[in-house]
Amino acid sequence: MAYFPDAWLEELISKCDIAALASEYVQLKPRGGRLWGCCPFHHEKTPSFSVSPDKNMYYCFGCKKGGSLINFVMDIENVSFVDAVRQLAERVGMELPEHSDEKGAVQNREKREKMYSATREAALFYHQRLKQPMGREACEYLAKRGVSAETTTAFGLGWAPDGWDGELFKHLNNNGYSPETLTEAGLCSKSKKDDSKYYDWFRGRVIFPIIGSYNRVVGFGARAMGNEQPKYLNTSETPIFNKRKILFGLNRLKGKNPGRIILVEGYMDVIGLHEHGIVNAVASLGTALTQQQARLLKNTVSEVILAYDGDFAGQKATLEALKTLEAEGLIARVLSFPNGMDPDEFLLSKGEDAFRALCDEAVSQNSFRLNYLKSDYDLNSEDQRMAFARAGSNLVSQFSPVEQEHYFAELASMTGFSRETLALEAQTAGIREVHKNTVTNYRNTRNAMTKLPSEDDRRRNAEGLLIRLAIDDPAYIPRIEEQKQLITGAGATALMDTLKDMPRGDPEALQVFVSRMEGNASSCFAQCMSMPECEDPETCFSECVAELIRLDRESEIEKLQQQFQDDTTTKDKKAELLRRIGELRGKNDEAEGRGYEP
Ligand code: CTP
Ligand code: MN
Repeated sequence: MAYFPDAWLEELISKCDIAALASEYVQLKPRGGRLWGCCPFHHEKTPSFSVSPDKNMYYCFGCKKGGSLINFVMDIENVSFVDAVRQLAERVGMELPEHSDEKGAVQNREKREKMYSATREAALFYHQRLKQPMGREACEYLAKRGVSAETTTAFGLGWAPDGWDGELFKHLNNNGYSPETLTEAGLCSKSKKDDSKYYDWFRGRVIFPIIGSYNRVVGFGARAMGNEQPKYLNTSETPIFNKRKILFGLNRLKGKNPGRIILVEGYMDVIGLHEHGIVNAVASLGTALTQQQARLLKNTVSEVILAYDGDFAGQKATLEALKTLEAEGLIARVLSFPNGMDPDEFLLSKGEDAFRALCDEAVSQNSFRLNYLKSDYDLNSEDQRMAFARAGSNLVSQFSPVEQEHYFAELASMTGFSRETLALEAQTAGIREVHKNTVTNYRNTRNAMTKLPSEDDRRRNAEGLLIRLAIDDPAYIPRIEEQKQLITGAGATALMDTLKDMPRGDPEALQVFVSRMEGNASSCFAQCMSMPECEDPETCFSECVAELIRLDRESEIEKLQQQFQDDTTTKDKKAELLRRIGELRGKNDEAEGRGYEP
């Protein structure tokens, strides 16, 4: 079995978002600090499946399944722990940990080295073809788009010859590259009709080599010159190319200390800016900015200017990118282009000076956020103006104190409400939220609990609450150990045995720990975490213990009643049974505070 180090799993978990993941299977709606939907694990019409994004956990109050997001993938895809981890790693673009001592890993590395060298050869091949007579049309196309010969050379742009006879394949194969290497590197494909033939993946397109770390060519973007679809064809995922981990143009800035980087959406934006002397632009490759890309930026610069397309999609992507950058501790400013233009179009039509002027006007990320939110509302309508004031003050209340001062003033001038009112709005909204989310004492929990139909559910709840106490405060572990005989649920018993090894104060380590639990323990853990935090642990503890004792007596009573009804039971025995049943009932009534009536 593959072994995953804890630290690696923690990183994986920190990159995954259970809400986003679960939303792919279940329609989720927020309520009381959680997201709710109809459970994908059992049939139901009213939602009892819940996701807690802050805890990165899921739990279904109906079928009682729950756990970490790794458990979720295991359950929903019906795969093993190892496969679930692999799937998640692929999803977030994390490479599986390698063990240098493994034979397979060495072979893999050799295989990858061959691919790197093949893609480099391919880039040279494309570039040479561009300069040959066959590349004339492509050169004209680039010239028409304002790309000079110098820029063409600087980026190593190329031309992929048209046709199905595999020119690149033949060239590289003659130079010693195996068909396997060429197909695995995403350069060529085996013909479906004729097994012995290979064709080139890129045909009749302008080639943009994508260069990764250590200046290695890892893949290509290929643009159609006319209106053929798709406009861009890219290297698909290969052992050396993962578009989520690379930024187009970043290789040119390595070691140059560019001070700040302009992040754009397209290959042509990077190239167009470069053409105008703005050499510090990089682009993601047709996906939303990923965490890994944000990290690459952080390793190069401290300031990022987001210059996405001016259309709606670009603005929305900007908002997402801001979040991703912020998570890496990078502060960004935002450029907005008029009329849905992209940076390249803007430069071509308005010129360099206008572009630099726009750069000077780049707004702070929070200003962008507030204005983006504002664009959702029609401020001429009274209702919407109020709604914006509410949403806006919630947003601003998340900023730093200094920024709050600034943006509450701005929001006040946008909405006409005073700064004091807006600040108060944010405060009371916060308080309302807290009240909605926490049932603060055990009584409330138990009141909700007694409405539950079965004794089983009541037992499960009391056991869950007890274990929750121990999860929140290890001082309860020995005290609960003492009451071990009271805890009978399979999940709860298994979970209890893990309590003393449970990592505390480190949410990701805890997630990994839960993901590795066996049997029902992870579901039980999710159940415990789905309960409100206890405000009065001592009372909760004694009430839970009392409840479990009471439930034990109930089941004892049931057993005795069955014996009583058994025909073979003698008269004397029956009298004895009655006496014991009465005794147990009395104790339970006493425990319930009803008093004992003989
Ligand atoms: N993209 C892609 N596949 C497509 C369209 C776009 O991979 N079919 C990616 C490319 O990385 C592209 C980026 O998304 O550079 C932005 O798309 P777009 O703005 O359409 O491309 P531009 O680079 O602006 O290209 P052009 O100016 O040639 O239209
Ligand atoms: Mn564009």
